[in-house]
Amino acid sequence: MKKFYLLTYGCQMNESDSDIIRQALTQNNYQETYFREEADYFILNTCSIRERAVRRVVGQIHDLQQHRRQKPELKIAVGGCVTQLEGKDLAEKVSGIDLICGTSNFHRLPEFLEELSGTNKPLIRLEDPTISKQNDLPVKNGGHRHSTCFLPIMRGCDNFCAYCVVPYSRGREISYQHAKIIEQINILRDLGQQDITLVGQNVNSYQDGDVNFAGLLRTAAATGIPRIRFITSHPRDMSREIIDVVAERPNLCPRFHLPLQSGSDKILGRMNRHYDRKKYLATARYIRATIPGSFLSTDIIVGFPGETEEDFQQTIELMKEIRFDLSYMFKFSSRPGTKAHKMTDDVSAAEKQRRLEIIIATQNELSKLQNDRFLEKAVEVLVEGPSKKRATEMMGRTEQGLTVIFKGDNSWRGKMIPVRITETYIGTLKGEALIA
Ligand code: 5AD
Ligand code: SF4
Repeated sequence: MKKFYLLTYGCQMNESDSDIIRQALTQNNYQETYFREEADYFILNTCSIRERAVRRVVGQIHDLQQHRRQKPELKIAVGGCVTQLEGKDLAEKVSGIDLICGTSNFHRLPEFLEELSGTNKPLIRLEDPTISKQNDLPVKNGGHRHSTCFLPIMRGCDNFCAYCVVPYSRGREISYQHAKIIEQINILRDLGQQDITLVGQNVNSYQDGDVNFAGLLRTAAATGIPRIRFITSHPRDMSREIIDVVAERPNLCPRFHLPLQSGSDKILGRMNRHYDRKKYLATARYIRATIPGSFLSTDIIVGFPGETEEDFQQTIELMKEIRFDLSYMFKFSSRPGTKAHKMTDDVSAAEKQRRLEIIIATQNELSKLQNDRFLEKAVEVLVEGPSKKRATEMMGRTEQGLTVIFKGDNSWRGKMIPVRITETYIGTLKGEALIA
């Protein structure tokens, strides 16, 4: 049996796409390996969001050439956002690639890998027009069980935030059919999946006929899956209706990822985000007031063109006011083809680094403070398996998605266990199981 090694970069959409790759290949007599030396096929699912991510891919392909010296028959397939942006030119720019695949035709990889054996020229298989027109969801029928399973509910993005390549790499927004999504959730539920994450670049603008995102959440909740989450939300489209639905249904997890990007109205305007700090704050307050135990995470970019010290201070102020539970923080990276690429990248690299370090420190304090809310409280933990460090300790997650480590045994895998939280850290909680 031929073996493949899959390396995934980037966001949850890519993670979700990689599940499709895994499923397509394992159902067609390929086996996944976690050892590079064993691989007959090396598959890179790439990310183009920041320049560094693109450089990493190029570096990786370069390193694989060494590997190929020992194993000349090794084939290298590259898919994902970098290939969508660069297209067939990638094969000319970076030597050693055998297959270039798009983001919407990963399910056809077995066929493409088959084709590879008959040729030495790079194969370009960028788009599958049948899928892109059909708004059909590739069915997942295997997988995760004990951790969350990513389920795409839409593709693409229409927002054109000034810094972002996604609308160019993933194309226009398409929502998958409501009935198909519910059917898929039911399949996963019957397979024993307990935690599902609905993913899309901007899930709040989901629309299929007269079903909006709140409507989808209602029917998804009615399937009875114990935990449903979703990412990513756009602050402009985060309606009270959505927040109210999450508040009402116990199996809709109280976790929101609401990328702020900046706390300065001037910068938000330049970023083309279509909300201001007042609106963002009102939404965040509504979430905190309506949903007890809510977990609010965000994305922040420092050093966007024109960001002054004052703009930056406004971001910090807002972070503290909202008390984010978690932030993903980035230095602005100018991406060709975007609106911001035409702006002068006027914050120096050193200054971007300084601002990044400051917000990381700020967020660490906030995360610890927010996690302290759970001290001495009993929380329901869905057990995923043994912890990485000790076999006698189990790892699981709260409904907020927080990692909890506690003494237990492997038979608890996949079960909901009540745990009393005894210690908190920035990224994890520790506790004691409340059962013998
Ligand atoms: N530079 C820095 N960060 C970016 N992001 C998107 N594009 C860029 C860029 N050019 C960040 C945003 C987005 C997250 C997925 O990545 O914060 O929400
Ligand atoms: Fe990029 Fe903005 Fe779309 Fe998010 S909403 S994917 S940041 S363009």
